[in-house]
Amino acid sequence: MNDDQYNFFKEWAKQYIRTFQEVDPLHQQCLDLKEAHTFRVCEAIERISSGIGLLENNTRIAYVTALFHDIGRFPQYQKYRTFRDPDSDNHAKLSIWELNRHHVLHTLNFPERQIISRAIFFHNRLRIPGNLDPETLLHCQLIRDADKVDILRVMSEHFQMPESLRNPVITLGLGADSLVREEVYHMLLDGQIMNYTKLKTINEFKVLQMSWVFDINFRPTFEILRERDNIGLLAASLPDTPLLREAVDFVNSYVEKRLKC
Ligand SMILES: [Fe+2]
Repeated sequence: MNDDQYNFFKEWAKQYIRTFQEVDPLHQQCLDLKEAHTFRVCEAIERISSGIGLLENNTRIAYVTALFHDIGRFPQYQKYRTFRDPDSDNHAKLSIWELNRHHVLHTLNFPERQIISRAIFFHNRLRIPGNLDPETLLHCQLIRDADKVDILRVMSEHFQMPESLRNPVITLGLGADSLVREEVYHMLLDGQIMNYTKLKTINEFKVLQMSWVFDINFRPTFEILRERDNIGLLAASLPDTPLLREAVDFVNSYVEKRLKC
C-alpha cells in the first residue's frame, strides 16, 4: 500500500462519515459515537501493531481495516435506527458492501484487498474460522483486539454517566433491571466467551464484556486493558455480590497471567 492509497483511504473515511448528518441531536450523537469509536480503534490498532513489531505495510493494512471495520454502522443506523444486528443487518457485511459499492479498495492488490475485507467480515463473529491463512488470521486478531478495547472504553464511560444522560442505543435495548443470573457468571468463570443472544439484561451484557479478555490475542492489548482498567470500572457498576468479586479476581488474574508470558 503506497502513500497515495493510504492517504486516500483516510480522507475517504472522513468524507464518507460526513455524508451522514442527522437533524435530531440524539440521532447525531449515535453517529458521533461510532465516528469516535472508529478513530479510537485506529489508534489502538496502531499501538498494538507497533507493540508486536509489525512492519510498515502490515501496520497500514491494520490501520485501514480499523478505519473501515464499522463503516457499515452509518447506513445501518440511517436505515434501521439501531445498532442491533439481529434487528437490522450484520454491520460487518454492510461495511464490506459499502466499500465495494464505492470501489474504495479497488486500487489495492488482490491479497491486500482480500485481507482487509476478510478481517472486517470476521471482526464481529463470536469466533474466527479455523482455516484462515496466517496473514489474514493476524489481521483478524488485530482488529478484534483493537475493537474490544475501545468498546470497553465506550461502555465504561457510558456507565459512569448519570442515568439521564445515557444513550440507550449503546446498550442494545436490553432490560434495565439489575439482575445477573448466576449461570452468566458461571460461563465467565468457565473461561467461556459468551453470545449476545443469551443475554437478558444490561448487567449481563457487562459480564459478557468482561469475558472478552479470554478472546484477546496480543500482549500490548493486555497492557492497554490493565492501564485503562475499563473492565474494573465496568465491574464497579455491577451489584456487589460474592460472584461478581470472584469474576473480577478471575479476570484480573487472567490478564496478569497473560502479561507474564
Ligand atoms: Fe463492529
